[in-house]
Amino acid sequence: MFKSILHPSAGILLGLVVQANAVSAQSASGASAAALAEGNTLYTNSCSACHLPDGKGIPNLAPALNGNPLLARDPALLIQIVLKGPAAVLPVDRPRYGSSTMDSFYYKLDDGQVAAILTYVRRTFVKGDKSQPISPKDVAAVRAKIDPEKLNN
Ligand code: HEC
Repeated sequence: MFKSILHPSAGILLGLVVQANAVSAQSASGASAAALAEGNTLYTNSCSACHLPDGKGIPNLAPALNGNPLLARDPALLIQIVLKGPAAVLPVDRPRYGSSTMDSFYYKLDDGQVAAILTYVRRTFVKGDKSQPISPKDVAAVRAKIDPEKLNN
């Protein structure tokens, strides 16, 4: 009944309005609220056990991500840390957290998931962050250069 009084083009119009709202929900630096919410959920599931929900880390177990200057650096470095694990990427003389290590997420997270987590982490834990979102394409480009046979864990 309701449908029958709508002109067929009304559906298209509605679609356009929804799309326009999605665009206006983006923050100044381009990460949509939906993408950040997804990143929040994934961070909770994959990272917060060690780095904690507030990113403050745990002494002798995991470094703080909150306020960590590493987060503001080259996205490719962050992507590598997650895909390969920090030990394969960071200098040998880096600060250590007891004997604790972080595994590679190469097989555990896909490109979109890594992008969402890192965008969320930067937006949440870097004060005044204005960085561009990290995209699934950025992650795919880094992944393509990794030889999975050479992963430690
Ligand atoms: C099992 C605990 C654990 C989990 C889960 C974990 N990490 Fe880590 N993370 C660590 C430890 C320990 C280090 C330091 C390891 C090292 O330097 O060898 C680290 C280092 C890092 C670093 C480098 C920071 C620095 O100052 O060295 C980043 C960035 C990071 N983790 C992000 C993440 C993200 C994003 C996730 C979720 C996808 C995650 N971690 C999941 C334990 C964990």
